[in-house]
Amino acid sequence: MKKIISIIILLLLICAAGAYYVLANQEGDIINMENKKVLVAYYSHSGNTEDLAKKIQKITNADLFEIIPKTPYSKDYNTVVAQAQKEKENNYMPELVSNGDTKNYDIIFVGTPVWWYTMASPVRTFLAKNDFTGKTIVPFCTHGGGGASMTYTDMQKIAPDAKVLQGFASYERTAKDSEVADWIKSLKL
Ligand SMILES: Cc1cc2nc3c(=O)[nH]c(=O)nc-3n(C[C@H](O)[C@H](O)[C@H](O)COP(=O)(O)O)c2cc1C
Repeated sequence: MKKIISIIILLLLICAAGAYYVLANQEGDIINMENKKVLVAYYSHSGNTEDLAKKIQKITNADLFEIIPKTPYSKDYNTVVAQAQKEKENNYMPELVSNGDTKNYDIIFVGTPVWWYTMASPVRTFLAKNDFTGKTIVPFCTHGGGGASMTYTDMQKIAPDAKVLQGFASYERTAKDSEVADWIKSLKL
């Protein structure tokens, strides 16, 4: 009898340990970045990229920096689409409220909406105004169905001294916490 009770207790302990392991690896778990200093910098025009940035920030426990252009873009879709097209053609870099500072960070997640197949203009400014020597850029973007297009390769062009990793692209606001966490776990940081 004693032996049966011992076996039952052992089985219960194994189940409890298994349940703990599953819970600890679920959404909301903070991924250890091995003492690296991490920043999540993003620009968002209509909130989708901000939503993704905050998911990444929560998972990595990083600092968060919003890239804000000095002159805000129109909320009218057609107006901003026309302006963004011209800005892309001219490689325009709008002035920012603050350029931020990447100096104290090892890994910088850089987020942008896809504008005309590449990053939004304010993100160009952020990349150009900061020093990425010896740093890792992890790009992420949200798009309207066309995917990341040239976003990551264009980031590497503006920040040639950075190591630019494989990015994460989400259709508008559809990324699930678990997908974001799986992507971050897969990164070679
Ligand atoms: C100016 C402009 C250009 C866009 N260009 C593209 C594009 O080239 N490819 C695409 O898939 N979506 C494009 N979109 C859709 C946005 O990338 C998408 O809605 C994104 O999630 C918006 O992010 P936000 O809410 O953070 O601003 C464009 C939207 C705007 C306003």
